[in-house]
Amino acid sequence: MRRKLAAGNWKMNGLRADLAELQTLAERHSDATVDILICPPATLICACQETLFDIGGQDCHAVTAGAHTGDISAQMLADAGATYVITGHSERRADHAETDSMIAAKSMAAYAAGLSTVICIGETLAERDAGTTLDIIDRQLAGSVPANATAYNTVIAYEPVWAIGTGKVPTLAQIGQVHAHIRARLTARFTDGDNMRILYGGSVKGSNAAEIFAVPEVDGALVGGASLKADDFSPIITALAAS
Ligand code: 13P
Repeated sequence: MRRKLAAGNWKMNGLRADLAELQTLAERHSDATVDILICPPATLICACQETLFDIGGQDCHAVTAGAHTGDISAQMLADAGATYVITGHSERRADHAETDSMIAAKSMAAYAAGLSTVICIGETLAERDAGTTLDIIDRQLAGSVPANATAYNTVIAYEPVWAIGTGKVPTLAQIGQVHAHIRARLTARFTDGDNMRILYGGSVKGSNAAEIFAVPEVDGALVGGASLKADDFSPIITALAAS
């Protein structure tokens, strides 16, 4: 049985005053039957320890410590109270030229620090238009997901780059096709691949969550903009619990 997961990626948003949103969310979902993960900016991880939720970083370095100004290691995230870290988000792939092998190295650093990873994959619009979506997914899965990934330490997030922050969402058939493809690849490669959770991400909102969660092999969502406010994230959690 795969437990459903509602994950919020705050990206570079959030000050201490915004922690009140988590308080509100906790009051509404204290008896949630789904897992809830919040990935705030690293500056807020320590302050999130009071919340009921799993807390994650948004990136980590591939090594434990050293002369890497501005970077954060997986061990530091764990020390601050995180239990997860997002690796390979498309914004990091694009803004910081992160490659599949770098993402695999970061993910392995996360495992070594005792963190679980949410490894992100997804095609650009040009790749979708060129009909290469599944090839891109295969390349990213093979290159970014380490050989020692398990259903306990790894969640896959399918985030089509063109759907992130745009209000554009793939059709349910398109989501279903990619998720089924990812499931087949995970099952073929990992003994517990059938138990690895696969999240959809990209313009998920309260208004479209229920239909997305009804798609086979969608085990939850990785939510950006709509995770910042309790009023926006709460209906998504409710829809997931009802799915
Ligand atoms: P939006 O939900 O804002 O489209 O962002 C999705 C995302 O990138 C989550 O990691």
